[in-house]
Amino acid sequence: AVNAADKAFTEAADLDALNQIKHQHLGDKAPVMLARREIGALPPAAKSDAGKRVNAARQAINAAYQARQEVLAVEAAERVLRDETVDVTLPADRRRTGARHPINLMTDRITDMFVAMGYQVAEGPEIEPEWFNFDALNIGPNHPARTMMDTFFVAAAQAGRDSGLVLRTHTSSVQIHSMLTQEPPIYTLAPGRVYRTDEVDATHSPVFHQTEGLVVDKGITMAHLKGTLEQFARTMFGPDVKIRLRPSYFPFTEPSAELDVWFAAHKDGPRWIEWGGCGMVNPRVLTACGIDPHVYSGFAFGMGIDRAVMLRHDVTDMRDMFDGDVRFPLALGTEE
Ligand code: PHE
Repeated sequence: AVNAADKAFTEAADLDALNQIKHQHLGDKAPVMLARREIGALPPAAKSDAGKRVNAARQAINAAYQARQEVLAVEAAERVLRDETVDVTLPADRRRTGARHPINLMTDRITDMFVAMGYQVAEGPEIEPEWFNFDALNIGPNHPARTMMDTFFVAAAQAGRDSGLVLRTHTSSVQIHSMLTQEPPIYTLAPGRVYRTDEVDATHSPVFHQTEGLVVDKGITMAHLKGTLEQFARTMFGPDVKIRLRPSYFPFTEPSAELDVWFAAHKDGPRWIEWGGCGMVNPRVLTACGIDPHVYSGFAFGMGIDRAVMLRHDVTDMRDMFDGDVRFPLALGTEE
């Protein structure tokens, strides 16, 4: 029985096989165990000798089992080490993690700055009734910006609805939503996508991004507007930028101005660059939204987000930002 067990244990190729045959040689019905039970039936004189021999056999089988188990356990451990070896010197085939789009990063950056100043962020729909995009902003029915030349019309005015639907041409439409749904004081920032029928070229795209700012409160003056824009420009382009307001015209602001930013270190030499429009909210717009212009005044501004990315990162062709080449955000670096 000892030899048979030893042979069987030695033939077991791994711990699983060994454990499967263990009971055959050490279990209740193993030969040594059966032999042990038969000792009782032996004559008394033979009992002690038979008992010793059976016990010795059992111990020998047990020892053989233990010895084989140790060998197989070491082998198993070695196999794990060998099979699961990682060659740390192999060149890595790591998948590049994606990068957030620079326009989203810029939007977050702008939003953070205004939220820190107590502004609320508003979004507004991208498809607007003409009234929100034009009429309420004092853009009359015959204003050139309202033509099919400039604006994507989604649906024409129909019976029962006096206003057609357009893709918003500017984020100024969000001003109207803010003023209709909130009582002053209103401090709102509205970043988002806007649409115009421009042909795609290096500086135009039919889809681009703006951020609107709107403040309506008591005693708001142009000085507040200018201070806010100065802070805005510095946060975006560095502490050295200067700004200037150039008189302009928008139906929804009076007076109105273009905002230029002075880039002393521009790659083509120092220069003023136009960044957006602004002005004091036209009293007619306040009135259209049910706000008394004798009590409240406000300022508004609208800046190009894409343009800010281009200026900040010397992007010369706007199309690079939208054609989905993953190298583009990487090329800008991941400063954020
Ligand atoms: N909505 C204007 C544009 O798209 C920008 C603007 C916003 C001007 C707010 C004045 C006030 O050009």
